[in-house]
Amino acid sequence: MSDSASPDIIRHVAAGQLCCDPVWEAAYKRFETPEQEIAKFIKRLRRFGFETLNRDSRIVEIFCGRGNGLVALQRMGFRNLEGVDLSDSLLEEYRGPAQLHLADCLDLPLESDRYDVVIVQGGLHHLPDMPTDLDRSLAGVHRILKPSGKFYVIEPWKTPFLVFAHAVTELSLMRKLYAKGDALAIMTERERVTYEQWLGMPDVIRETFQRHFEIESWKTTWGKLAAITAPKAH
Ligand SMILES: C[S@@+](CC[C@H](N)C(=O)[O-])C[C@H]1O[C@@H](n2cnc3c(N)ncnc32)[C@H](O)[C@@H]1O
Repeated sequence: MSDSASPDIIRHVAAGQLCCDPVWEAAYKRFETPEQEIAKFIKRLRRFGFETLNRDSRIVEIFCGRGNGLVALQRMGFRNLEGVDLSDSLLEEYRGPAQLHLADCLDLPLESDRYDVVIVQGGLHHLPDMPTDLDRSLAGVHRILKPSGKFYVIEPWKTPFLVFAHAVTELSLMRKLYAKGDALAIMTERERVTYEQWLGMPDVIRETFQRHFEIESWKTTWGKLAAITAPKAH
């Protein structure tokens, strides 16, 4: 498929089951340009050590949104890419060779023991029923990973920097002067319930991960969790 063609999307769910808040999606698209996002994702993937991974690794990004994480992986030379998200309109924005799945990440419609790498870059904090949904989602990631696979995680985390960043972006003057701050404040408002629920249970989140994965690295700085985990044998 050429990179300019419409994306290849397998639709596993009916229109009635889709998530999607158009106001949140509009703010998300304004928050960063695709090129800014791709540059950010490439930096993150390098920090995770992706430069050393085999370019034939079978990789799926869950909660992939408009797929700029997949574009970053493609630019780094990875060839076997898939993405899963529950927003048809965001998936439709992706341009590239990855196989996309319109599906709920609580019930991944992907084959067991198939993937070398699963990535999430800001998706688990959207889960409404915590920690039950996290447990279900992690069980699905464990199921699709090969025993030698790895799960790479970036999610928001309540560090002093995050508290400061929210305080600043919620100031009305700052929102007027700084478009990116305004978009962030709108996204935060629209996802407040799940976002605050996520930020409020760091110990439960770590325990839930530990039920399914060995934790190889768990870093919480600058308002983010960056974790590398490997499936537990069970
Ligand atoms: C903060 S965005 C992150 C998107 C992408 N990872 C990025 O960083 O650009 C969260 C994404 O999760 C998706 N989403 C929310 N709940 C979902 C679910 N249950 N299953 C699949 N996708 C979901 C939304 O459609 C949205 O694209």
